[in-house]
Amino acid sequence: MTNPQPHTELESHLKETRRFAPPADFAAQAHVRTQAEYDALHRRALDDPEGFWEEVAAGLHWFRKWDRVLEWNPPNARWFAGARTNLSYNCLDRHVAAGLGDKTAILFEGEPGDVRRVTFRELLDEVCRFANALRGLGVKKGDRVTIYMPMTPELAVAVLACARIGAPHSVIFGGFSVQAIADRVEDAQSNVVITADGGYRRGHVVPLKANVDEACERCERIRTVVVFQRCKCDVAMKPGRDHWWHELTAGAPATCEPEHCEAEDMLFLLYTSGTTGKPKGIMHTTGGYMVHTNYTARMIFDLKPDDVYWCSADVGWVTGHSYVIYGILSNGVTTLMYEGAPNHPGWDRFWDIIERHKVTKFYTAPTAIRAFMREGRQHADRHDLSSLKLLGTVGEPINPEAWLWYHEVIGRGRCPIVDTWWQTETGGIMITPIPGVIHTKPGSATRPFFGIDAAILNKNGVEQPPNAGGFLCIRKPWPGMLRGVYGDPERFRRQYWSEIDGVYFAGDSARRDEDGYFWIMGRVDDMIKVAGHGLGTMEVESALVSHSAVAEAAVVGVPHEIKGNAIVAFVTLRSGIEPTPALRQELMNHVTHTMGAFARPEQIRFTQSLPKTRSGKIMRRLLKEVATSGEVKGDTTTLEDFGVLVKLAQKDEE
Ligand code: WT7
Repeated sequence: MTNPQPHTELESHLKETRRFAPPADFAAQAHVRTQAEYDALHRRALDDPEGFWEEVAAGLHWFRKWDRVLEWNPPNARWFAGARTNLSYNCLDRHVAAGLGDKTAILFEGEPGDVRRVTFRELLDEVCRFANALRGLGVKKGDRVTIYMPMTPELAVAVLACARIGAPHSVIFGGFSVQAIADRVEDAQSNVVITADGGYRRGHVVPLKANVDEACERCERIRTVVVFQRCKCDVAMKPGRDHWWHELTAGAPATCEPEHCEAEDMLFLLYTSGTTGKPKGIMHTTGGYMVHTNYTARMIFDLKPDDVYWCSADVGWVTGHSYVIYGILSNGVTTLMYEGAPNHPGWDRFWDIIERHKVTKFYTAPTAIRAFMREGRQHADRHDLSSLKLLGTVGEPINPEAWLWYHEVIGRGRCPIVDTWWQTETGGIMITPIPGVIHTKPGSATRPFFGIDAAILNKNGVEQPPNAGGFLCIRKPWPGMLRGVYGDPERFRRQYWSEIDGVYFAGDSARRDEDGYFWIMGRVDDMIKVAGHGLGTMEVESALVSHSAVAEAAVVGVPHEIKGNAIVAFVTLRSGIEPTPALRQELMNHVTHTMGAFARPEQIRFTQSLPKTRSGKIMRRLLKEVATSGEVKGDTTTLEDFGVLVKLAQKDEE
C-alpha cells in the first residue's frame, strides 16, 4: 500500500527547456499528421469516450457485437459487454484471410545467432496445432496455463494458443527461478506448465525445465508439463506428466476453431513484483484489452504495413504481452523477437540486429539506454541505423540526458521518440506523444492518449495547478484497465481505488506543466522530504545524470537531525571515468547549481552497479537500507560493488 506523507506537497525544481518538433518527413506520412487532426481526435475522445472507443473497436473482428460499450460500477468496469471475439483470430486468421498469409509475422533471432522467419500462415498453423494439443491434454476454457519459456516464437505460439481456446495464460519471466514459479502456479491454481528444456542467455543455457521440475516438487497441483526443445540439452522427462512439444504437435491438425470468448472473459494473469510476500496476479480481459493495445500500438508507433518493429522487452513483462505480441500482431505488422542479452557477444548486439534486419521502430527501456550510454557511443556508431524511423521508451522515467543520447546516437537526430507511461495494471499505454504531431520535451511522457483522463490530484482529490507535484491519477475507466487482483477483490479496491475515492491511483507522483505535459517524478513511496521540501527521486537523479561523467544515479533519503532527511546519491560513472574526491565535490556542486542548495546530496557514493528488479527498475528501497545502516567500508572513494545486493534484491522480489 502506498503511504504518501500527508503534510508535504511534492515540489518540482528541474526545468527542461529543450523542445523537439516532429521531423517534417515523419509527420508527412504519419497516421496523425496535423495539429487539427490531433485536436479533432482528442476532442472527440474527450466529449464521447464511449462513442470514440466503439469506433475504434469496429476495426477489429467480433463474432458478436456488444450490447453496451461500458458498464461502470466503480471500481468494476465491463467493456463491450455481450460481445464475443478472439484475440488469436484477430492476430492471425483475420490477416491470413486478408491475403497476408505469406508476410512475416515473427522475425526471430536467437542469442547464438540463429534466425527464423515465421509467416502469419505458419504462425496460425502452429497456434492451431498447439491449441489442439492443449485441448488434447484436457485444457479447457477458463483453465489457467502457466508459461515459462525463452523468447522464441514458440512462446508467442503458446500465448496465442491459450487465447485461442480461452484458457488464460500466466507468463512467468524466464529469469525467475523455482520459488517464483511455485508461488505463481499456486496463486493462479494452475495445473499445466509450458516450458522449454532451456534458453540461451549470455552464452549459457538457462535450465528452465530443471527449474520447473523443482517447482513441481514444491507444488503438487502441476499435473502436466509441456516441454519445447530449444537447446537440445539433457532433461529428465517424467512419464505421464511431461510431454515433448514436438511430439504433441506432430500429429495435431492445423485447424482449430477459435473459442468465441466473451469480451470480459479473462485473457491473462500477470504477476507483478509487489513488495509484500504474496504475489499479485493482475487480471486482464479480452475485448477492451484488445481494442486498447491494437489502437495504441498503431497510433503511437505509427505502425505501417512494411514496418519491422522491435520491442526488446521480454514477453514475461506486460510490455511483451501488449507490444511484442497482441498490439503488434493484431495490426498485421512484423514483430521481432530476440532471445538473449543486450551485450552478448558485445555491446553492439542491439545495433547489429537493427542493421541486419532493417528494424524501423524500436522500443526499449531507459535502464538499457543508460547502460549503452555508459559503455560509449562507439558501439552504435559503427552500425548503419538508417532504417530506424521511430524510437520508444518505457519502464522508468528517462533522464533528459539519456533521452538526448538516444535521440542523437541511435536516432541520429531523425527519429521522434515516444516516451510512454503506463503500468502492468493499465494494460496499454496511457501517456505518450503522438509522434507526427506532439513536440517532445526530453524527460516528459507528454500528454494523455486519446480518451485517457489522467490528472494530477492532491490527497483530497483536488486537481493541482500547473507544475505542482501530486498523485498521477486516472479519473475515468479505460478499455485496457485491470479488472482485478486474482482471487482478491478487496486488495484490488484497497490498492488502487482507495487513496482518492473512485479514482485510479497506482503509486506515481508527477506534475503537469503549463503546456499540459506530464513529468513523472518517481514513486510516491520513494519521495524524499528535505527541510520541508517534498522531492521526487527523478529530478535529483536527472540533475546528476546531466553531468558528463555520470551514467546512472539513484537517490534516497536518510534521517537527518536538522533537515528531517538528507539525500544520499548512488552514482555509476561512464566507462573510463575515475571516481575521485574532486569529482564528488564537482557533482555536489552540479546539483546545487542545477536545482538549488536544498537538493545538494549530503553524500555521494560511487558504485559499479545499482540494484535493480528483474525488469530493470532501480530498487531504491534497498539502497535506502544501505545508506541508513551506514555501512561505508574503507576509503569512501572506492567503488562499491552491488553485485551481492543485486542478488539479494532478486531473491527479495521472488
Ligand atoms: C511503473 C509501472 C508499463 C510497462 C513496463 C513497466 C514506471 C513506466 C514510465 C515512463 C516514467 C514510467 C512508473 C509506473 N514507468 N513507464 N515512461 N516514465 N515512469 O510496468 O512494472 O507495471 O511498472 O513503471 O513508475 O508506475 P510496471
